[in-house]
Amino acid sequence: MTVSIPTKVVAEALQQRIYVTQPHLPPLREFLPYLEEIWESKTLTNCGPFHQQLERALCDYLGVQHLALLANGTLALVTALQALRISGEVITTPYSFVATAHSLLWNGLKPVFVDVDPHTLNLDPARIEAAITPQTTAIMPVHCYGHPCDVKAIQKIADNYNLRVIYDAAHAFGVQTQAGSVLAHGDLSVLSFHATKVFNTFEGGAIICPDAKTKQRIDHLKNFGFVDEVTVVAPGINGKMSEINAAFGLLQLRHIDQALAARRKIDATYRMMLKGVPGIRCMGNGGEKVANHAYFPILVDSGYSLTRDALYDKFRANNVIVRRYFYPLISDFPMYRGLPSARRENLTVATEAAGKVLCLPIYPSMSIEDIERVVSVIKKG
Ligand SMILES: Cc1ncc(COP(=O)(O)O)c(C=O)c1O
Repeated sequence: MTVSIPTKVVAEALQQRIYVTQPHLPPLREFLPYLEEIWESKTLTNCGPFHQQLERALCDYLGVQHLALLANGTLALVTALQALRISGEVITTPYSFVATAHSLLWNGLKPVFVDVDPHTLNLDPARIEAAITPQTTAIMPVHCYGHPCDVKAIQKIADNYNLRVIYDAAHAFGVQTQAGSVLAHGDLSVLSFHATKVFNTFEGGAIICPDAKTKQRIDHLKNFGFVDEVTVVAPGINGKMSEINAAFGLLQLRHIDQALAARRKIDATYRMMLKGVPGIRCMGNGGEKVANHAYFPILVDSGYSLTRDALYDKFRANNVIVRRYFYPLISDFPMYRGLPSARRENLTVATEAAGKVLCLPIYPSMSIEDIERVVSVIKKG
């Protein structure tokens, strides 16, 4: 028996918006017991029981030693720089979300932009040395799209020049290389648990650190610098994660493997469907052993029938909201573009990538029909 679907229903389905991502939300009823516990205890924040449980659970899940939760990834970046008392100039990438460089300005630091590697679009270690000056104290690379930076090469430079390394690992939840968690590299790594991230706590973030002493300093900094009722050791900030966010994180962790598996499947489906489309390049992974498929970036080359921006507009006309992560480059924003390192000639690889990239929708509940709809926009050209 064939069932004919009214054309109005088909048209409405086509009209439904597909966003670049959708937050992963476990069933609401599973969250209610956590809320009841909070209502019962009346502990809403200040590193309460859920906060402590989530810190331990994330250390276990991520395979790291010490982790401090914060209210969001941006405050975590700002606090990480404070924790290591970074001063002067910091080498970083222009190809990232603007919070990476903003965290430097919030600390009165000077960002020095260095171009990216054409394969991973992460900070190119081969170009770092030339940007080091007597004022350089640290490097802040980003594991862009969750693809690992060349951590060995970066560490070697840092060791040679006595620099600290703070990874902006906002995209890299759960990513592993052959050597284990990518979050275990550098002096500190910073995660974001924003609603759009692979693992979210509505808003949230964390700093991964190698020793208990550094974690203690971060814990002081995120609580106004308080050590006890009468002792303040630093001009800290209010960067604490609330109990409600921490409780939600504990629930999310119960579903994370399923969510990551769904992402893996969508990633593989896109790659299969887009194979051989002239001018469309799916970015390969960065050598990770376990990827998190946080994003699905494609590069629109001259061999494609439309420019990147024409394809972006065409997606919008078809109610598919793709994003140009990362365009504009951070170095093109008004508060950065006057810096000598922000000159486009200095950043040719990043500039080219920013002109070609589109991030396609990817999220655990994405249906095969929606993947087909995205791909068909590309194939129609
Ligand atoms: C690379 C990068 N760094 C930092 C952040 C800031 O994190 P948050 O939104 O949790 O403050 C984000 C995302 O939001 C990001 O993508």
